[in-house]
Amino acid sequence: MAEQKQYHIAVVGATGAVGQQMIKTLEERDLPISKLTLLASARSAGKEVSFKGETLTIQEAKPEAFEGIDIALFSAGGSVSRKLAHEAVERGALVIDNTSAFRMDPEVPLVVPEVNPEDIFKHKGIIANPNCSTIQMVVALQPLRERFGLKRVITSTYQAVSGAGHSAVDELKKQSKAVLEEESFTPDILPVGSLEKKHQMAFNVVPQIDVFQDNGFTFEEMKMINETKKIMHDDGIQVSVTCVRVPVFTGHSEAVYVEFEKDADVQEARQLLAQAPGVVVEDDPQTQHYPLATTSEGKNEVFVGRIRKDLDQPNGLHLWVVSDNLLKGAAWNSVQIAETYIEKA
Ligand code: A2P
Repeated sequence: MAEQKQYHIAVVGATGAVGQQMIKTLEERDLPISKLTLLASARSAGKEVSFKGETLTIQEAKPEAFEGIDIALFSAGGSVSRKLAHEAVERGALVIDNTSAFRMDPEVPLVVPEVNPEDIFKHKGIIANPNCSTIQMVVALQPLRERFGLKRVITSTYQAVSGAGHSAVDELKKQSKAVLEEESFTPDILPVGSLEKKHQMAFNVVPQIDVFQDNGFTFEEMKMINETKKIMHDDGIQVSVTCVRVPVFTGHSEAVYVEFEKDADVQEARQLLAQAPGVVVEDDPQTQHYPLATTSEGKNEVFVGRIRKDLDQPNGLHLWVVSDNLLKGAAWNSVQIAETYIEKA
């Protein structure tokens, strides 16, 4: 038998909320890694991180750092990806990019392995990892779509602050303490983006994630709408989303209303979801068993519950979908793309 190829992997944004989960996920999985290179900004160069019992030193992410890298997992923000992803590709790396920089580029596959793994092999150097809220929604929709045909999706999200990085997590902690101790503070980070106004996040619910577009939707909402159609290769699916930030550290929750081509049976939907890869059904109203952000934290799966038929539409179902936004929403989906690529390479 031919010896398995070993891969030199890089994590770009290794000190970040997602980057740290990428390192942890790589540590837990069994990828054939010959070497792991950790990259971040110059501020972090020299910091040490342990990986499988070894001490690795963070280096500054610059073009030369990609010499010899086989797979580079990027999660250091869109501007870093725009600056360095092509440099990595030129040096022979496959880039798996967790930012929104290339997601809608027709040359770049946008992949959720439970939905469109075949797209991995259409890459021209870069594969994009979808938005965290999109990923968990399409994983839950895919088995139902295969059986009943997807017509329309209307979703409201309840998104954790860690999706906006370490600084947003720190801000929620500080604000919560300040509110409880009746001290004054100035909101600084959320909503993310170069926005004029920031809002209190502690003990609050903010109906804005990312910047507003001319059509009244936010960029986060448009990401979910456009990415769902791209991943499913179907521009005909009607998708409408309201994205909301809630004072939760980790775990995005979504209320998803779906209309199918055919009438959908709840029992069958529950069974299909229970058998689907990457999905765990938690749905027992009798025992108040349903997915929660707190119980999904640290897990790779997408949790689905509150499955019920719409009272007016025979083809309509309601779902409650929860997942760890840093894992399936980001780090795990990226590593899973790498694993699928390596298995079939
Ligand atoms: P650093 O810690 O050195 O600033 P988060 O999403 O938690 O905010 O993390 C963002 C990640 O992106 C961090 O690892 C951060 O590194 C990294 N990063 C930010 N700016 C750059 C840059 N210009 N070059 C490389 N990495 C960057």
